[in-house]
Amino acid sequence: MCGIVGAVAERNVVEILLEGLKRLEYRGYDSAGVALLQPNGTLTRLRKTGKVQALADAVAEHEALGSTGIAHTRWATHGGVTEYNAHPHCSNDRISVVHNGIIENYLALRAGLTEQGYTFDSDTDTETIAHTVHAELQKGGSLLKAVQNSVSQFHGAYGTVIMDSEDPSRVVVARSGSPLVIGLGLGENFIASDQMALLPVTRRFIFLEEGDVAEITRRSVSIFDVNGNPVEREVVESNIEHDAGDKAGYRHYMLKEIHEQPTVVRNTLQQRVDERGLVPGIFGAGAEAILAKVKHVQIIACGTSYHAGMTARYWLEQYANVSCNVEIASEFRYRKSVVYENSLLVTISQSGETADTLAALRLAKELGYMSSLAICNVPGSSLVRESDLSFMTRAGAEIGVASTKAFTTQLTAFLMLTLALGEHNGISEADSSGIVNALHSLPAKLEETLAITQGIEDLAEEFADKNHSLFLGRGDQYPIAMEGALKLKEISYIHAEAYASGELKHGPLALIDEEMPVIVVAPNNELLEKLKSNVEEVRARGGIMYVFADGDANFASDDTMRVINVPHCASPIAPIVYTLPLQLLSYYVALIKGTDVDQPRNLAKSVTVE
Ligand code: M6R
Repeated sequence: MCGIVGAVAERNVVEILLEGLKRLEYRGYDSAGVALLQPNGTLTRLRKTGKVQALADAVAEHEALGSTGIAHTRWATHGGVTEYNAHPHCSNDRISVVHNGIIENYLALRAGLTEQGYTFDSDTDTETIAHTVHAELQKGGSLLKAVQNSVSQFHGAYGTVIMDSEDPSRVVVARSGSPLVIGLGLGENFIASDQMALLPVTRRFIFLEEGDVAEITRRSVSIFDVNGNPVEREVVESNIEHDAGDKAGYRHYMLKEIHEQPTVVRNTLQQRVDERGLVPGIFGAGAEAILAKVKHVQIIACGTSYHAGMTARYWLEQYANVSCNVEIASEFRYRKSVVYENSLLVTISQSGETADTLAALRLAKELGYMSSLAICNVPGSSLVRESDLSFMTRAGAEIGVASTKAFTTQLTAFLMLTLALGEHNGISEADSSGIVNALHSLPAKLEETLAITQGIEDLAEEFADKNHSLFLGRGDQYPIAMEGALKLKEISYIHAEAYASGELKHGPLALIDEEMPVIVVAPNNELLEKLKSNVEEVRARGGIMYVFADGDANFASDDTMRVINVPHCASPIAPIVYTLPLQLLSYYVALIKGTDVDQPRNLAKSVTVE
């Protein structure tokens, strides 16, 4: 989704801004722009549809420069993908604005501003910010005051950075609903929607809180809370690797991230599970007392993270004896739901900034959940800061829009939560030690599983000309089938649906023919015989199957079935292990189809609008 970078410095900031935008490309966007101010107040604005490189070419051609600047990648919401809708938006060649989020009352604002004589050059909601700030400045006072007076008129979500040509020494920024992080330099300061954008220039960050407005100059950062009171916010030293944005020799970030899974899962387990079992206190200060009381878990998430939650429900009920509901955040937040006694709300999010998940967390607080836990990959994200407890997944920066390593580390985290809750709810000794041993074996199993890549590449060749597909699984492999289907549609644009295989004969069996490949995940577990019956139902109707199966499961390749053997693994970790071949299948199909693997069409990495 949209990305913001800004800088106030003595040097020319063009390269910093462009590099920042490039580092935000992974979030998904359709146009890019930059506005630059020279110390004498000369304003240069350049905007381009398409990739950041097109903007960089324009910047080079115009030899654009400035020591204060704002830049943006836009993911269209209001108004089509055109140059005139791209940010920054300006008012009277004086005010320049970049904005993430949606100003919901923009039509009313637009009408009022038009009456005041302002003319609009775009179809966006953002342009109302520029004119509103300009109108406020006309009343006298500083840019800071004008922005503070303006934001009280906005309904909706914004992370916005505003620059005034008449005072190139500062930018003013405001956050409500869309994240902003200030980067602290030496004699220069920065602002961005994501710390990734600023890692080449600083590692010291201040995460703005809801309602904050801040004035940033080269040498100072002044922050004011929602009531206009000056506040101090903590300075956080980032430990994200500077080169996390590199492909490390892989053709795509997605492939790199798939191959990182053994390492990041190992990192997620480190110092949390040792030879004696779960290390106490891993869910944070005060967690033990809360977990001891939990009798029900409500999981909320979106997309891939939701699939992690779906899988966790099987584990929490099977091993930890804790009842569990799982719901998509955008549904949960708009319906009346019942809060169970001693219910723990668990949100899951790679980014920690997903608008619907955040809104669901805020609603849950009003509803009176006993406590909240965020399972998240981004320290300092909104979800982490607003939850009572947090558990970081340590997947490292995930750049590919299609989530891979974030998912498997989320599942790893959920197995640890299962152990923690199970301890208070009568988990059997056999299940507890079974999960601990399985977790110890997990990184090595993932390495073994990645070694079957060649077979999957061959399979992708057969698959790539299809338009539709079905994914089947049973039990805790059903959400894995859902995740496999999501991956395939996201990056290869092949229509894919997932079913719990027991549901086949209740409708989807009608779809089966040789043009509808059926992908089956088949570990050797207590549901294997049931699954085999479902496989026979497909075979009897002329379906073509691709089965990812345990070698001991006794599937054999023939005219109607291609079997790919997945290394044998213990039941609790099978959902994690079987995820990898499905990720690889999607990747190689997308490669053959020549799609934009890391930035698939229409999608954004972090969905910060609802
Ligand atoms: O950052 P989050 O985990 O909250 O994101 C949720 C979804 O938007 C995300 O998982 C999305 O479905 C991915 N593109 C899937 O690959």
